Amino acid sequence: MTSKATPFPMAFGGAGGPTPKISHGKGSYLWDTDGKRYIDGSCGPAVYCIGHADPRVNAVVAEQMGRIAHGYRFNFTSDPLEEMTERLGRAMGADLSEMVFVTGGSEAVEASMKIALQYHYDRGDPARVKFIARNRSWHGNTLMATALSGFTDRRRPFEGALPEVGRVSAANAYRPPAGVGENALVPHLVAELRREIERIGPERVAAFVFEPVVGAAGGAVPAPEGYAKAVVELCHSYGILVISDEVMCGAGRCGAWRASEVDGVVPDIVTTAKGLSGGYLPLGAAVYTRRIGDVIRAGTGAPLTAHTYTGHTACLAAGVAVQRIVEEEGLVAHVAARGPRYQEELRQRLARFEQVGNVRGRGYFIGIELVRDPETKTPFDPALGMVARIKAEGMAQGLICYPSSGNVDGRMGDQVILAPPFNASEDELEEIADKIERVIEVVLAGV
Ligand SMILES: Cc1ncc(COP(=O)(O)O)c(C=O)c1O
Repeated sequence: MTSKATPFPMAFGGAGGPTPKISHGKGSYLWDTDGKRYIDGSCGPAVYCIGHADPRVNAVVAEQMGRIAHGYRFNFTSDPLEEMTERLGRAMGADLSEMVFVTGGSEAVEASMKIALQYHYDRGDPARVKFIARNRSWHGNTLMATALSGFTDRRRPFEGALPEVGRVSAANAYRPPAGVGENALVPHLVAELRREIERIGPERVAAFVFEPVVGAAGGAVPAPEGYAKAVVELCHSYGILVISDEVMCGAGRCGAWRASEVDGVVPDIVTTAKGLSGGYLPLGAAVYTRRIGDVIRAGTGAPLTAHTYTGHTACLAAGVAVQRIVEEEGLVAHVAARGPRYQEELRQRLARFEQVGNVRGRGYFIGIELVRDPETKTPFDPALGMVARIKAEGMAQGLICYPSSGNVDGRMGDQVILAPPFNASEDELEEIADKIERVIEVVLAGV
């Protein structure tokens, strides 16, 4: 049975056709109402980190709902709010101990931008109102988060309404700026960021925003080694805050709870969502340093970013239940240990396809990039719709993967993201690898 609902747009990973109707899930699997089974090779859009329908999470949520769904944050605190605050502060490490809870990634990005602006305002530096972000990045669907994003297909209809944001190149070692060699890449990108800061005027820039591992807009692209350290140093030398958008790559997916920890940096503000509550209920957060908190406390008092559902009790209960499981089962350490080997296994399996140009990623956040010509890295003609074919063939074969397109120039470039549940069994990892290999084989044979 297929849904009569509006098809999901291709820019958001839809195959452009009708979608099956969901029936239920269990662990790493989902079933549609026709009884067809799918293995969740990407946790949907990198969300369902402990798999589906875990009875331990459902019991906690049901118990919370039985008592109260929502004790409005500005009237009451709650056990889930207090436990999550403690857990998230500990998971983030350093002095990233203050936070605003929201219900998703876009809201987390919006909150992080407002916190940055408020911090500068409260420091008596209100001229710092500009942001700099990168090409080939995705920060969300609200207007300002879309303005930050360098994702052509998702911006086009809104261009005229989007506030201007400073823009620098993606940090992609597989596709560096023209003429820039591997060793010159980080210095090149840092020099470019410096020029952009100087162009805008350093005294006007509030924050630089980046994804440590680019998700939807690039296909799991980790920045080259040394990049994050260098840009954090540069920004701080100008008094510019660094916002690390870890909505997709964070919450343990890269083998450390905070993705930027792998890069050895402490950003000023970190966004998180998706894996925070593993998709059981909507939850996100903007987490910031005590230093920022102190400045805001002494100024306007508290972050002016609240929504009605900020700190929603049942959503926090779901998040707490998921994070207890992640901690008790040592799932982040498991991802750190198993991820690099799994990536290597995929690399070896897919090496037989000339058109698999690059297999990359961190932990259980893995990108596979298809190219027409591996020597020149020339992408396929976008008219072929490779990404939609991969998605559709995956669904046909019972594999959920996350396609992303436009990595090369906003139009060209075909990538598919695999992001298995942290607790997927060895057999399930094998099934995902078997299926993606078969999907790529079928799609390549058809073009
Ligand atoms: C890095 C990043 N930031 C922000 C968002 C927006 O999150 P949401 O879709 O939960 O609003 C996403 C979504 O994919 C994302 O990948």
